[in-house]
Amino acid sequence: MQLSSTFASLLALVSISWASSTPHGHGERVVRFPLTRKSADVAGHVDLSTLEAQFIRFSNKYRQTFSAFEANTGSAHPLSGKMMSSISKRGDGVVPLINEGSDLWYGEIEVGTPKQKFNVSIDTGSTDLFLPSVSCIDCGGHVMYNAAQSSTAKDKGQFTVLSYGQGDVMGEEYSDDVFLGGYEASNQTFLAATVYSPDFSYPNFLPDGLAGFAFENISALGAKSIFETTSDSGVLPSSVFGVKLSSTSGESELCIGAADTNLYIKDTLTYTDVTVKGYWQVNLEAVSRDGTTVASNNASIIDTGTTFIVTNDNSAEAYYKDIPGSSNSTQGDITYYTIPCDTIGSYTPTFTFGGRSFSVSEETFNAGPASEGSSDCLGGIAGTSIVGEYFISCSMCVSQVPFFNISVLDFWVVGDVFLQNVYTVFDKENLQVGFAELA
Ligand SMILES: *[C@@H]1O[C@H](CO)[C@@H](O)[C@H](O)[C@H]1NC(C)=O
Ligand SMILES: *[C@@H]1O[C@H](CO)[C@@H](O)[C@H](O)[C@H]1NC(C)=O
Ligand SMILES: *[C@@H]1O[C@H](CO)[C@@H](O)[C@H](O)[C@H]1NC(C)=O
Ligand SMILES: *[C@@H]1O[C@H](CO)[C@@H](O)[C@H](O)[C@H]1NC(C)=O
Ligand SMILES: *[C@@H]1O[C@H](CO)[C@@H](O)[C@H](O)[C@H]1NC(C)=O
Repeated sequence: MQLSSTFASLLALVSISWASSTPHGHGERVVRFPLTRKSADVAGHVDLSTLEAQFIRFSNKYRQTFSAFEANTGSAHPLSGKMMSSISKRGDGVVPLINEGSDLWYGEIEVGTPKQKFNVSIDTGSTDLFLPSVSCIDCGGHVMYNAAQSSTAKDKGQFTVLSYGQGDVMGEEYSDDVFLGGYEASNQTFLAATVYSPDFSYPNFLPDGLAGFAFENISALGAKSIFETTSDSGVLPSSVFGVKLSSTSGESELCIGAADTNLYIKDTLTYTDVTVKGYWQVNLEAVSRDGTTVASNNASIIDTGTTFIVTNDNSAEAYYKDIPGSSNSTQGDITYYTIPCDTIGSYTPTFTFGGRSFSVSEETFNAGPASEGSSDCLGGIAGTSIVGEYFISCSMCVSQVPFFNISVLDFWVVGDVFLQNVYTVFDKENLQVGFAELA
């Protein structure tokens, strides 16, 4: 089964340039991301093995961040289930490394003294920052961090391997001053990578590095995110950041230190508490479609670094099962669902947070025809019953990372399919996430 170019565009290379910060509102600074969507209609198809690889990398990111939570707090993350229970088995399977476009949103940060500029993906589903270092052997095409040319750089003398949603990164931990839209995260810990797996090579991965915007508890480096460092230093008007993600060029924006009140309808802003400080994790009150509630009071993670909405097979099946003409296709451990293209608009989901319902548009929910010319279209909610064994794709690790088993994912990862429909406020001060209708 092949997926069409419309689907490919969902996985499109999304390039956001982060213009210099401009004063805004009551003196707060807004970091704007004019967005360009690089067309990914290469040969017009993405095959399901690519999707499987994308999903395995998604699993790796969650495995790593759950594991970090356990290491940092001394107790298993309540959502991790059996995810971490069997990291001991070995086997002979290898995860294929398939090149694909990055679907992450990125912007520019500055690091060191004098400042060196990098583009980094903005990922609210992880915490660590990594950049390629000048001694990286596989980082051609990227801008590389040169610690020797920064008077504020400190080598922490710690070699670390990170396994990410998009592959592996290993290198030396450093601290240096990082500037985010003009705000400073001084003495920020990050990884200066000396090895990038092919998934992070240019042009498979367009930004130079990745910046997590979640909490310290899920940091594999045991470090604060650049947002936490900045916010904890007291320089922000308030400890929040706001995100608008749009496929329309020039409309995406990350706002540091405030929510950008121009971008949403004020009286629709609805907050819901962060339930566990690690991810931006909140209670998802309800998922419904066509007037039917298909899930209620489930845990959810608000993740700009995941394209789809991902949940377990049972919950995904409950969503699609009564839709006339719907069907599913399983690739590895991820199940994608289709709905006839001419009716998919009647079956878009509504997500309820904090007592207010937010609708997902047909445009963001419909990932396009399931194959060239197909009259069935792929829906933006995917399911998984992660019961398989995986080898963590770490082709260049000195010692092999063991196989792991994951059981059921008992939560919803609320990715860009939903987030493009709302303005999202990540409020660290009051530990809550706010959603509002777009202005
Ligand atoms: C970041 O990406 C934007 C858009 O692709 C580009 O214009 C800019 O030069 C990049 N910045 C760096 C430091 O590479
Ligand atoms: C930088 O942070 C590290 C912890 O990551 C701390 O040990 C060190 O004292 C800090 N240095 C400065 C100059 O603040
Ligand atoms: C880490 O998580 C624990 C358990 O939820 C919480 O009590 C603690 O405040 C968190 N620590 C930080 C630094 O967020
Ligand atoms: C896929 O569809 C079949 C019926 O066509 C159904 O029996 C099965 O449970 C579905 N699987 C999932 C994971 O939804
Ligand atoms: C959502 O909650 C229902 C009970 O209301 C439960 O049966 C289901 O497994 C939950 N789904 C997820 C993904 O947590």
